[in-house]
Amino acid sequence: LNVDPPDHTRLRRLVSRAFTPARVAALEPAVRAIAGRLLDDLAAAGPGATVDLIEGYAYPLPFEVIGALLGIPAADRPRLHAWFQVLLTGWAGDPPAEAVEASDGIVGYLRELVETKRRQPGEDLVSVLVAVDDDMLTTQELLSTLFQLVVAGHDTTASLIGNGVVALLDYPRQLQALLADPRRMPAAIDELIRFTAPVPHATFRVTTEPVTVGGVEIPAREQVLVCLGSANRDPGRFPAPHALDIGRGDGTNLGLGHGIHYCLGAPLARLEARVAFEALLGRHPGLLLAVDRDALTWTRGDGLVLRGLASLPVVLGPSSIPAKSRRHR
Ligand code: HEM
Repeated sequence: LNVDPPDHTRLRRLVSRAFTPARVAALEPAVRAIAGRLLDDLAAAGPGATVDLIEGYAYPLPFEVIGALLGIPAADRPRLHAWFQVLLTGWAGDPPAEAVEASDGIVGYLRELVETKRRQPGEDLVSVLVAVDDDMLTTQELLSTLFQLVVAGHDTTASLIGNGVVALLDYPRQLQALLADPRRMPAAIDELIRFTAPVPHATFRVTTEPVTVGGVEIPAREQVLVCLGSANRDPGRFPAPHALDIGRGDGTNLGLGHGIHYCLGAPLARLEARVAFEALLGRHPGLLLAVDRDALTWTRGDGLVLRGLASLPVVLGPSSIPAKSRRHR
């Protein structure tokens, strides 16, 4: 995210092989199996029980997928999860000691993972990347890339799932339209990305030369924060922009960025979100918020780069899949 060409071109090319639409499509059965298992676990609490959809579904789903893609053993994931919880909570000013500790913990862990994959390579992306020559990818670049993939690969999608559920509950007619015709799901996902802004701003950028935007000249070497969420509510581009309308999703909103840094994981993000919503709504079409709508707070992440819920208490309601067929799924 913070590298210019030609280094950016080199790094992006190395990683993008893992995220082609065909490779990502091949992951669908695995993603569906993870979603089904997580829903089984949540449903075990009983149809009337309150469950946290972030902790039990929205977060672990993409975290397990990116963990499997990178070859992070399942037993190690809770440790990483705990560090990321600390790191992505957000703070003002200098990072607190526990955030530094968490960041060091993650980097130390990734360093060990790289060493393990050097000794015992597998089919995963880390093994592919450690096999790349040092002049194409230094160890420092490899570690930074892995760090970014883990962060970008889970918290973003977790926020989309959580924010998206709330948006659909806020717009029951849109939810009903989606339940009536699940083929509308891909367009609905694009609209949820636009409307709920899981990544509301692009990375901090610095002007390399003076630029004029909307009649205001920004001098060279100034820090600029581009608000993607605002562009996605531009009434000139999206009629009635403050309303959710799953009919308008044409995939051209800016929620996944733009230009050379356009989201590398976009096909994966779309797949995970589609499967997550299909599985959840297919099984629990009557799910409801278990707390007052006003009690929800979008505090996940620092709120600047990431926008998501810390928790989402819901009552799933009865499952539309009989227990017997669920066992044989
Ligand atoms: C709903 C989920 C997601 C959203 C909303 C999202 C959003 C974004 C946005 C807005 C950018 C551009 C930021 C900028 O220009 O500064 C970006 C870049 C990126 N995203 Fe995503 N993302 C999501 C999921 C994912 C996933 C699942 C992965 C990987 C597995 C991923 C990997 C990346 C990477 C590596 C970049 C940097 C690309 C580059 O600098 O060339 N993202 N994402």
